[in-house]
Amino acid sequence: MSILVIEEAAEAEDWARHLRAALPHTEVLVWPELPDPDAVEMAVVWDDLDALAGLPNLRAVVVLGAGVDHLLGRLDAMPEGVACLRIVDDSVRAQMVEWVLLALVTHTRRWDDYREQQRAGSYEELPVPVPPDLVVGILGFGVLGRATGELLRDVGYRVRGWSRSAKRAEGIECFAGDGELGAFLSGCDVVVCMLPLTAQTEGLLRRDTFAMMKRGAYLINVARGGHVVEADLVAAIDEGRLSGATLDVQREEPMPAGHPFWSHPRIRITPHVATYTLARFCAAQVADNYRRLQSGEPLHNRVDLHRQY
Ligand code: NAP
Ligand code: GLV
Repeated sequence: MSILVIEEAAEAEDWARHLRAALPHTEVLVWPELPDPDAVEMAVVWDDLDALAGLPNLRAVVVLGAGVDHLLGRLDAMPEGVACLRIVDDSVRAQMVEWVLLALVTHTRRWDDYREQQRAGSYEELPVPVPPDLVVGILGFGVLGRATGELLRDVGYRVRGWSRSAKRAEGIECFAGDGELGAFLSGCDVVVCMLPLTAQTEGLLRRDTFAMMKRGAYLINVARGGHVVEADLVAAIDEGRLSGATLDVQREEPMPAGHPFWSHPRIRITPHVATYTLARFCAAQVADNYRRLQSGEPLHNRVDLHRQY
C-alpha cells in the first residue's frame, strides 16, 4: 500500500523524504510516478486533484494547508467516501500568531510613522494606545483564531472572538452566530479576520458590516481575500469609517497592476505569507494519520466538505 504526493517538484520531494523517514516500511511516491494506482490509499495534495480519479482504492486525501476553500469548486474531483484531512500544526499556529501580532503592533505602535520620521531626521514621540486600551476582535475563533486570541490576551489586549458555535475562553469575550455579529463588531478597535472562506463567510466584510464597526476601527485580514468586498473597504477607509487595513490575502493573488491596494497609503499588504505548511514539521501528522488509516483508528483533522471547512 502506498502514499502519493502530488505537489510541485521540489516540495513534493521534500514531503516524500520526510514521509519516508516517518514511515520506513511504506512506499511513498511522487506524482506522476505511479507503477500501481490500485496500491495508493492516501494522496497528499494542495490543489491538483485531477490525478485522484485514477486511484480506485484511495481512502484519504490530505490537503496541505489549513483552508480548503480552493477545493470547494472541485468537489466533483474528490472521490465519494474518501476522508478529507487538513493540516493543524503548532508550526502553523506559531507563524500565524507571530504574523498577526506583527500586523497589529506595526499599526498600533505607528512603526511606519517612526520610519518616516527617521528618514526625515525627526526624533519625536507619537501618541499611541497601550494594549489594555484596545479591544481586538477575532472573526473565526477556531484553531488559529483561538491561538491568536490567547496570545493577544496574554500580551494584555482586551480580546473578543466570534464563531459559529458558542465558545468559552478564559479572559476572552465570546460571541457566536450572525445574531451577535453586530454586538461583536461594534466594540472592536481592531478586527482580525481568521474565518474559513465558505458560502456563509464570502463577502462578510463589506459596506454594511463596516458600518457596524466603531468609527476608525482597523481591519486585519489573514484569512482569504474573498472575505472582503475590496471596493467597499477602500471606500470605508477613504470616508474615514475605517482607519486602515493590513491584508495578507487579496481576491486576486498576485493583485493585478493598477489594483487600488498597491498604492493606498492606509493599506498594507503582504503576499499571502502568514504561514507555510512545512514538511519538516507537518509530515509527522500525515504519517500518524496514515498509521491510523491502517489500524482503523479515527483520523485527525478531518474536514467536513458539506460544512465547507
Ligand atoms: P478552523 O479551526 O476551522 O476555525 C474556523 C473558525 O471559523 C471556527 O471558530 C468556526 O466556528 C468559525 N466559522 C466558520 N464559519 C463561520 C460562520 N459562518 N460564522 C461564524 N463563524 C464561523 O480554521 P483555522 O485552522 O483556524 O483557519 C482559519 C482560516 O485561516 C483558514 O480557513 C484559512 O482560510 C486561513 N489561513 C490563512 C493563512 C495565510 O497564510 N494567510 C494560513 C492558514 C490559514 P466554529 O468553531 O463554531 O465551527
Ligand atoms: C494557507 O493559506 C492555508 O490555508 O494553509
